Amino acid sequence: MKLSCIGCGPGDPDLLTVKAVDRIKKADAVFTPTSKEGKPSIALSIAKKYINESNTTITNLIFPMTKDKNSLKLQWKTNSQKIADAVHSGKNCVYLTVGDPSLYSTWNYMHRELRENHSDIDIEIIPGIPSFFAFAAQAKMSLVEGDQTLGIVPACYDLNKIRHTVESCDSIIFLKDGRYFDSVIEILSETGFGDDSLITIAQDVSVEEEILETKKLKDLRNTKNPAGKYFSIMVARKND
Ligand SMILES: C[S@@+](CC[C@H](N)C(=O)[O-])C[C@H]1O[C@@H](n2cnc3c(N)ncnc32)[C@H](O)[C@@H]1O
Repeated sequence: MKLSCIGCGPGDPDLLTVKAVDRIKKADAVFTPTSKEGKPSIALSIAKKYINESNTTITNLIFPMTKDKNSLKLQWKTNSQKIADAVHSGKNCVYLTVGDPSLYSTWNYMHRELRENHSDIDIEIIPGIPSFFAFAAQAKMSLVEGDQTLGIVPACYDLNKIRHTVESCDSIIFLKDGRYFDSVIEILSETGFGDDSLITIAQDVSVEEEILETKKLKDLRNTKNPAGKYFSIMVARKND
């Protein structure tokens, strides 16, 4: 009884691995995350062209955008049970996720639930290209060199934690909600990033709607919503 979790990469369907495509093509049942009922799944939109739709069932699993632990846990249980039922019925199952499965992915909640409650299921994890590597390629930039350190920070949580990482790393990748980037920009100014430091911001990397721009820190200060979307990345390099 096997389940493959597939890292689908940042958005461009040509950026999946050969192994990922193979597992998707062979799947009888595809599970894919979305944040609410009726909202298209981004992971599904990336992998869709490889799914044999005539003999594959596709199930959207809802992962609500809430920080309420109890309702999240209940939803994780419901979702993982649906996956387990399909695997136990003998279907070849895949779980799709954006980028790589190990990085801020709904997969990690499914994996934990399945390990705890359905340890008979054999799980395979296929890595994907994380959004920030696609970002660096599109921006044609290096993230770190030599002895420099790199921090990866979700911008929408604890500002003190963010401050600590910004102080101790040479380059910082900010992920998650771009609508919080304005508070992060304030922190950059307060922690040793000069006025002329270059900040690169992108939305929807590797798909048609991609926006990518580099600005000086001083030109971003006091900008409301420098990136207006959840699917945004910002990279700051101290040595620039
Ligand atoms: C829940 S995390 C998933 C990260 C993913 N597992 C990865 O490896 O990149 C979602 C965040 O990843 C970033 N992200 C993922 N794909 C992106 C893309 N194509 N363009 C811009 N940001 C992206 C955004 O910061 C978004 O808010």
